[in-house]
Amino acid sequence: MRLCIYPGTFDPLTNGHFDVLQRAAKLFDRVTVAVAISTPKNALFSIEQRVELVRANLGQLPNVDVVSFDGLLVEFARKQQAQAIIRGLRALSDFEFEFNMALMNRHLDPQVETIFVMPKEAYSYTSSSLVKQIASLGGDIAHFVPANVAVALQQALAKR
Ligand code: COA
Repeated sequence: MRLCIYPGTFDPLTNGHFDVLQRAAKLFDRVTVAVAISTPKNALFSIEQRVELVRANLGQLPNVDVVSFDGLLVEFARKQQAQAIIRGLRALSDFEFEFNMALMNRHLDPQVETIFVMPKEAYSYTSSSLVKQIASLGGDIAHFVPANVAVALQQALAKR
């Protein structure tokens, strides 16, 4: 079995993340989306909400599941018996951060390989922060997020 994890904050899931996920699901027998509980970012959604917003979109992807995780990513990967970590690479600006993280993770556990997947060009400039900003200013985010995320964003922002 080829297993991988796709980690991130997912605050919230975007169509760019989902595009990467669909590509990973074709390459691996099993993909686990790993939603980070602790994040230095000030998350808009709780960990339960972030997990649920992913889960609700997995209907067409039978070999994908989603869980939350805390602690070191490589330890979580080891516990899951995953051979690889999937990360999306949108543009050159992602490279330095991703390069450092991949090499650090390799140092921590040489058995776990990081694999980079490029999302569709249409999502190369999507990010969760930009989507939240546009939504908070009343802009149209339909192109960037699944329908359940758009609704959840409107509800979360209305409560603020
Ligand atoms: N489409 C759209 N947006 C994407 C994307 C894609 N394909 N790929 C990344 N992004 C965006 C995200 O929306 C996010 O945007 P934001 O900063 O505006 O919120 C940004 O790129 C990065 O987010 P994400 O891919 O979710 O990763 P992350 O940087 O939030 O997650 C962890 C990092 C959780 C994987 C990392 O911190 C980690 O491993 N933590 C565990 C502790 C650990 O082991 N630390 C040592 C690591 S060396």
